[in-house]
Formats: sequence, C-alpha cells, structure tokens
Amino acid sequence: MDSIVVKGSGPLSGQVPIAGAKNACLTLMPATLLSEEPLTLTNAPRLSDIRTMAELLASIGTEVAGLQDGMVQALGTKEITNHVAHYDIVRKMRASNLVLGPMLARMGYAVVSLPGGCAIGARPMDIHIDSLEKMGAKIELKDGYLHAKTDRGLKGAVVPLRFASVGATENILMAATLAKGTTVIENAAKEPEIVDLAECLRKMGAQIEGEGTSRIEIQGVDRLHGATHPVVTDRIELGTYMLAPAIAGGEVELLGGRRNLLEAFCNKLEEADISVTETADGLLVKNNAARVKAVDVKTEIFPGFPTDLQAQMMALLCTAEGTSVLEETIFENRFMHAPELMRMGANIEVSGGMAKVVGVDQLKGAPVMATDLRASVSMILAGLAAEGETVLSRVYHLDRGYEKVVSKFNGIGAKIERVSS
Ligand code: EPZ
Repeated sequence: MDSIVVKGSGPLSGQVPIAGAKNACLTLMPATLLSEEPLTLTNAPRLSDIRTMAELLASIGTEVAGLQDGMVQALGTKEITNHVAHYDIVRKMRASNLVLGPMLARMGYAVVSLPGGCAIGARPMDIHIDSLEKMGAKIELKDGYLHAKTDRGLKGAVVPLRFASVGATENILMAATLAKGTTVIENAAKEPEIVDLAECLRKMGAQIEGEGTSRIEIQGVDRLHGATHPVVTDRIELGTYMLAPAIAGGEVELLGGRRNLLEAFCNKLEEADISVTETADGLLVKNNAARVKAVDVKTEIFPGFPTDLQAQMMALLCTAEGTSVLEETIFENRFMHAPELMRMGANIEVSGGMAKVVGVDQLKGAPVMATDLRASVSMILAGLAAEGETVLSRVYHLDRGYEKVVSKFNGIGAKIERVSS
C-alpha cells in the first residue's frame, strides 16, 4: 500500500487549480438514469469515487465514456438493464444510494443495498425511505437490501425532512422530476451541490424552483431529455488547500475558488487572522502572522461551517495561539484524526461531539494513519508545519476525494512524495 511522506514545508506560494466537486459529480451522474438521452458532465474530477459510481451505473445499464482524461463523463442510459445496486459496490461508497430515487422514478422498482456503517457514523437511510414512501413507493428491507417499488409510478407529495439530509434531498429531487404532480421538499438541504443538481435537471427539462433554500418545489414531467453540464467547483477541496498557506505560511491563490461556496469557513479563517481575498481567478489566502489565533468552530448544515472541513481546520488549530473548541454536530464519530494528530504532539481532548485543542508551538513529524477521506488530508496539512518527516499510510482514502494531491501541494512549494511500499 502507498504512503505519503511529508517534510516540514513553507512558506508556500503559487496557485492551486481546484477541481469539480466530488459530491456534486456523485449526484449528477445518477441523473443519467432519468432519461434515455445522453448526459455529459464537464469539469468532472479524476477520483476513485467517480470511477466507482461509473462502475455502478455501468452495472445498471448506463454506457459510460470517460473522455479527455476523465474530465468529461458521457453517460447514456437508453435502457436500465439491471435494477440491483450490489453491496460490494455500495459498501465502498455510500453515495451509491443515490441511484435509488432515479431508478424508482424511471422504472418503478429498485433494489439497493444498505451501505452499512462507515468510519464516521452509522449513516442510516430512514429519511430517504420515509420520503420516497410519502411519494407512493413501497420499500422493505430484506437481507440488507432495500426493495423499493411503485405500482402506479411515484406521485407528487409534500415531503418534510426531519433533518436537512443532503443525500435524501438529492434522491427526492431526482425522483420528483418524473413523479405525477407536485412535490414540495420542506427543510431541504441547501448545499451548493444541491443547487448544481437542480440546474442540471432543469437543463434536462425538469421543472424545479427554490433550490438553495429550505423549500424546493418540483412539478413532475413525463420525460427528461439529454444535457451537458459543468460540475460546480469543489468547495471542500478549495477549503482544504486554503489551509495550506494558513498552516505553513505564505500566500497561495486557489484558482476557481469563490467565497460564496464557503462563506462561513472564510469568516473563520479571517477570525484566526488569515486573510482571504477574492481575485479575478479565485481566492487569495495569506497567513499574516507566525501563529494563527485560536477560534471556536461548530459544524452545521449549509451555509454553516462544513463538517467536511472540520478535520482540516483542527490541523490548523493544533498550533494556534490559545485554546479552540470544535463541535461536530453532523456526524457522531468524526474525530478519528485527533489521536493521529496527538501522535504529532497536538494537545487535544475529545469528549462526545466536542474536541478541545490547546495550541502548541510546534508539531513533530511522525508515522500516522489516514482514518477517513477528509481526515487523511488533514494529516498532510499538519505535516507541512511539523518539524521533521510525517509518513501517512492508507492513502487510498485520499484517492477517493483528492485528485493529483502530490503535484498540487508540491506546486506551491510543499515537499511531499508518494512512496509505494
Ligand atoms: C453528504 O453525505 C456528503 N457526501 C458528505 O461528504 C457530507 O459530509 C454530508 O453530505 C454532510 O454535508 C456526498 O455528498 C456523497 P447527510 P450524506 O444525509 O448525504 C444523518 C465526504 O467526505 N442521516 O446530510 O450521507 C447521517 O447519519 C462525505 O465527501 C440520517 O440520520 O449526508 C448524518 O449524521 C462524508 N438519516 C447526517 O444525517 C438519513 O436518512 C448528515 O447526513 C440520512 C442522513
């Protein structure tokens, strides 16, 4: 298995191109199941999760052509030839459950494996199930698989979500485009990836209003046609690389970055005495002081501070001046990076959903392990500011969500290399 070796680096300078959003692409790709006509996605990121989704869709009947080095996904589902999303694919990637809504809408039945737990939490699907049942689906759990069917097609309904689940909003939004009548999603998730999906579905002929707010209204139509759509910029990759100059010093421009994708995160960086400036090409991030200021962080649904940037922010706060408290409110077990950071000398106390971080002068390089996708990159960030070498193992987690990590970090002056062992 490969490892990544990180040498203390900094100050950093230069530009990082930010890719298309993994979490947008993973919901845009299943939208191909809603139409017989081809869907083309440009600015698609080159990630193992995207390849996993392509594999799943191909097993259902989609013709997937990855063109131009994976940046373009040409997807065509003339006919759904298999209605089962098997456990061996779904357990690798929870987002596989996003074929449930489109398959139900297009063909009236679907069998989708429950994803099983993952490192950060139990990841249940009760909100997806309750909502689709309100639209007329009959769903039962058998042998770890959800067996979903509709006798007379899905029908529009008012669907209040008990929690603004991103995935549930996406499944319902896609299903509702072909349902009979009007669907209203109340307490809908407002993430930019939802807005991107709605814009793509509208290009395919869907009638949607209110995306980006907590109330989305969809008028069902008889069929959708093909479209070409650019995947929105990845706000989580953006925030991750914004932390590189924050942690290691210097000034870096993130190409394609826009402040409105992660306003709460930018505000927190500025509170920590890091400057964030919008440029014609993206966001310019500069570390003004040797040590950043300690800040308290609470993860929330959009537009709050993103849970997917919590681990990376913790890496910054390990060497901040003062004590920071991070509260994780979205997932029940998302502090597994804390013990790894403590191996590097960080002073962190975790209790339930709270982590108290007392800033230390300097972290020390050490062998550490990637525990989940976002925690993996936070170890690289910590290694940039550490004395000596940090060796990160289990880097397959990284490949799921960060393309060209080594070249992007080294392109701004970091000293990291990937070694096969
Ligand atoms: C999406 O996951 C993202 N994944 C996650 O990113 C992200 O952390 C999450 O949204 C929150 O922003 C993709 O978009 C592929 P949720 P999703 O449904 O849709 C609970 C990454 O690193 N819940 O909003 O699964 C759930 O257990 C990944 O890229 C239920 O209880 O998130 C969690 O505690 C990690 N019942 C909370 O809601 C349900 O039916 C948020 O889940 C659904 C969710």
